Order: sequence, then structure tokens, then C-alpha cells
Amino acid sequence: KKLLLLNGPNINMLGKRDKNIYGSFTLEELERDLASFVEKSGYHLDAFQSNHEGDLVDRLHAADGEYAGIIFNPAAYTHTSIALHDAIEAIGTPVIEVHISNVHKRESFRHVSMTAPACHGQIVGLGKQGYMLAASAFINNF
Ligand code: DQA
Repeated sequence: KKLLLLNGPNINMLGKRDKNIYGSFTLEELERDLASFVEKSGYHLDAFQSNHEGDLVDRLHAADGEYAGIIFNPAAYTHTSIALHDAIEAIGTPVIEVHISNVHKRESFRHVSMTAPACHGQIVGLGKQGYMLAASAFINNF
């Protein structure tokens, strides 16, 4: 029983970037906290972050059939990437999109998600907790 945590560009800068928007937790803390959260339910967490769109496409392809679910914050690629939309659609593994911030109360270019229509669901604006909620959804079979 495995889950995959995928994070897109600039998420490696958590803890430094825009703390008012994203909070002060780091990517390492997020990965550690989510791993111990899912382990309580007998799941193992793999985690991958990349600043490169194609690497995220490749990781999605490699994840096909390997995980109960994928918790994915595509970050800025959310708003631009048809390639990530198609990769999510191409694999049989369900994906829940997570945004730390409430993208709907920010700039209008963040209001559209290219990737969400290919996802099972989306969680926005709940900070680090959003990742735990997505994991809970997979653990409880939605
Ligand atoms: C984000 C929101 C995106 O608009 C932004 O580009 C990010 C992070 C979030 O988690 O709130 O990098 O995905």
C-alpha cells in the first residue's frame, strides 16, 4: 500500500518564499509529516519534487499502477500545463490536486487549473493540512 506525493516548481522553496501565503513549513517537513501520517494507516509514502515540467510528466507515467493514489501540487504548472493534464489523464492512478494557498482569492491567472479537470478532486487553501486531507481521502477510498 503506497501513496505518491508529487510537488511542482518552487515548492522546494517553502519556508523561504512568501511565508504569509504558504506558511513557514519546509518541503522536508511536509514530506516527513505526510509520511508519518500515512504510515499510521499502514501506507508508505514516496515523495518527488521537480522544477521541470517533463520530469513531472515522466514521474506520473512511472507511477501508473504503482500507487493507491497521487497527491499532486503542480504549483505554477497548474495554470499552464496541458502536458500535465494529459499525463494525469493517461494513467489509471487517481490524482488529487492540492494547493496550499487559496488560489481563488489571489491573482486571476491562478483561478484557472489546466490539471484539475483530469483529477479526481482538488483541495485548496488549507495549508499543509490539505495534503493530509488528500491522503485521508485515498486511505478511506474517497
Ligand atoms: C500553489 C499555487 C500556485 O498558483 C503557485 O504557482 C504555487 C503554489 C499553492 O500550493 O498554493 O507555486 O500551487
